[in-house]
Amino acid sequence: MKKRLFTGLQPSGALHIGNYFGALKPFKDIAGDYDSFLMIADYHSLTTMRDATTLRSNIIDVVKDYIAIGVEPDEVTIFKQSDVPEHTELAWIFECLVTVPFLSQAHAYKDKVAKGLEANAGLFNYPMLMAADILLYDADVVPVGEDQRQHVEYAREAATKFNNAYGETFVPPQEMVLKGVGIVAGTDGQKMSKSYKNTIPLFGTKDEISRAVMSVVTDSSGDRPENVYSIHRLFRTESELEGLYAEHAGKYKDLKEALIEDIETLVAPMREKRSEITDDDVRTILKNGSEKAQAQAQKKITEIRDRIGVSI
Ligand code: ADP
Ligand code: TRP
Repeated sequence: MKKRLFTGLQPSGALHIGNYFGALKPFKDIAGDYDSFLMIADYHSLTTMRDATTLRSNIIDVVKDYIAIGVEPDEVTIFKQSDVPEHTELAWIFECLVTVPFLSQAHAYKDKVAKGLEANAGLFNYPMLMAADILLYDADVVPVGEDQRQHVEYAREAATKFNNAYGETFVPPQEMVLKGVGIVAGTDGQKMSKSYKNTIPLFGTKDEISRAVMSVVTDSSGDRPENVYSIHRLFRTESELEGLYAEHAGKYKDLKEALIEDIETLVAPMREKRSEITDDDVRTILKNGSEKAQAQAQKKITEIRDRIGVSI
């Protein structure tokens, strides 16, 4: 029996190569070792997003992205949170078990409010919806980025609170902080992030990728343009790069062109595969996934309703 893996991601727009090396690839590399569930957290994204057209297309896009990088829908259960209403139901039950001061300590909530996001009640309760996501599936491991580690701790706390109140029902889950490649730098040398507008798009056209690479800041003093090199090392070994960078010492344009070709070699087959996936393919994948997910979620919620006394 394989252990169960559960992870989620918000459908928040076009991916960049930092997302690929930091999250998508490490997920793809381990997904087959587990009974894996990949959930599109569309209800989580309502905490910060109010444009229906954008949300709809982001959901479709993110499923295409994952399939294009090689995640197999036959192996990984890919589904949408809103298709399995047991998630919001269990979130409510957990909300009645934890306190306002406890939720107020969540770093992600405090950071978002400090950045000026509206402190809506959904944003505040966010960790309990995430706890419900994880605990409905009796997940053994939960791959997340470093920024989500505390939310898995919150899920453990929700599990413990429930178990103490109603008897052993949940196994406290464990986070698995994926060892990707560390932080991928963007075109300006800062962390690559869509909020900083310094990204190299993963599924951009060759032109878009070239433009982004050509804009990499190269004001380093030596022969080696560090910002180009730090991205290039994701695609080639250090010994390969040593030869290349020695041969083209000081010729930043040549080195950027070499990087563009290396990105293209990785991305072109994925871009091709992505272009063949239709919106209807995505709908079918999500429908099949949500049936599998809901079968598990219904079994668990039946036990939960029984424990709390609403089944009579
Ligand atoms: P962004 O910073 O562009 O908004 P997200 O916060 O949506 O990216 O990140 C989605 C996933 O990609 C997370 O798991 C995050 O850890 C990973 N990720 C994002 N940017 C980078 C980066 N520059 N280097 C490595 N991983 C990253
Ligand atoms: N909150 C996570 C993020 O923004 C996404 C998420 C929702 C998640 N539910 C989850 C991750 C359950 C892991 C497990 O990245």
